[in-house]
Amino acid sequence: MNKDILTLLDLEKEDFELFFKRALELKKNKKKGIEERSLAGKTLGLIFDKPSTRTRLSFEVAMIQLGGASIFISAKDTQMVRNEPVRDTARVLSRYLDGLAIRTYSQDLLKEFAEFSAIPVINALTDLYHPCQVLSDLMTVIEHKGGYEGLKITWVGDGNNVSHSWINAAAVLGLNLVLACPEGYYPDTDILEKARERSHGSIIVTSDPVEAAKNADVIYTDVWASMGQESEQKARARVFEPFHVDKELLENSSQDVIIMHCLPVHRGEEISEEVLEGPHSVVWDQSENKLHMHKAILEVLIK
Ligand code: CP
Ligand code: NVA
Repeated sequence: MNKDILTLLDLEKEDFELFFKRALELKKNKKKGIEERSLAGKTLGLIFDKPSTRTRLSFEVAMIQLGGASIFISAKDTQMVRNEPVRDTARVLSRYLDGLAIRTYSQDLLKEFAEFSAIPVINALTDLYHPCQVLSDLMTVIEHKGGYEGLKITWVGDGNNVSHSWINAAAVLGLNLVLACPEGYYPDTDILEKARERSHGSIIVTSDPVEAAKNADVIYTDVWASMGQESEQKARARVFEPFHVDKELLENSSQDVIIMHCLPVHRGEEISEEVLEGPHSVVWDQSENKLHMHKAILEVLIK
């Protein structure tokens, strides 16, 4: 296993399987009231340049529940704001901490952190990827569908960071992934090309959401404007209108399709209230599973 998780391409299929197995076990143990102390004496640092509810909290609670501790580091309150280089910060933090979870804009900055850190660095979302989200989402798929093999997994909406991590997961696991995005908002071409080279499944991009949703076992959507794209919100809302996930779009999907969204959600934009709160939605399980998956990731990387 690599020292860091910067993208899902850092993982082999066996690594995914190890995380799924341990996260499911940890979830079961938590429900039974079994206490875990695997990270006693360890400290995770969290550097977040963008807002977060789920990712930050689930990493922090994960450390507490595993007997360790976490420290939230607001980047603007460190010397980084006065231009202390990343390479210096990374080396200093490595002398105090046992792991770092970072949410920031640039994937290159994250890479630099990882390069100069002696400790594991975990991507907690960048403009390009959200790998831990998709690990916990796949855990949710396994819980609801019994596995991921042979499923038609459909992404509807923006070709964004979360979609890129789905593409990488598809590459490593051989998923059948269809992404329906408006023209001009397709996933990154290089990411797609690299994934297709590695994949033994299929990764298809289309601008037809209705065709993409046909016989889908999983339909996943996300906001139309991600963090940092707020000024594009209005223009995007017009272009993305046909990609709204509602009851009509679900009509030709599999009868027991599950509906996924990483949250936070804009009700009435990318998804209707009815579908989000309806019987096919598994969004709250997704949120819960971030906690169990983050525990598994931290145990494996930090222990
Ligand atoms: N899904 C997710 O990453 O949520 P937060 O932005 O609240 O962490
Ligand atoms: N694509 C969204 C995901 C939020 C968890 C964003 O980057 O804002």
